[in-house]
Amino acid sequence: MADLADDIVVAPDERLKTECARIEEITPEIRALAERMAEDMYATEGCGIAAPQVGELVQLVVIDCDYVDSDNRNPYVLINPEIVVADGEEHELSEGCLSFPGITVRVSRPSHVIVRARNLDGDLMQYEARDNLLAVCLQHEIDHLHGVTMIDHLSASQRMVALRDLAAAKAAGARPGETA
Ligand code: NI
Repeated sequence: MADLADDIVVAPDERLKTECARIEEITPEIRALAERMAEDMYATEGCGIAAPQVGELVQLVVIDCDYVDSDNRNPYVLINPEIVVADGEEHELSEGCLSFPGITVRVSRPSHVIVRARNLDGDLMQYEARDNLLAVCLQHEIDHLHGVTMIDHLSASQRMVALRDLAAAKAAGARPGETA
């Protein structure tokens, strides 16, 4: 069986720095892409994944912050997601990313967000999260659609350390889904 972690684009890669295109129509290809991303996310035990992380430069995100085992999967599929509110106290938390195997970094983000996105049925959905993993995950994944990754939130010197650690982790064989 092929290792689904091989499907993940790993930094540094220009595809992770690219503004993704809005999805104009929910085609069978988009549905298949969402399914592929969900499979990759569960296989690598991530809580979210963005389309550029599998090399597709479109505004599609899959998130599941709730699942604890394979019997309890409830993936949210977000098409063209937009953060309409980001406020509340900034919280600094450790984040990992499937595209940065073997490292975590401390990122400060607003603690409350409201996000609007279409689902696979084309319905406009609204998601609100406060002080939890979902609040972080929504911001982290939506960043990916605009060519922004977690290390872009760091200072230049912190970013250099993170990239050095990433190179070392990759050299030591770290795989997507593994964090320090
Ligand atoms: Ni990520």
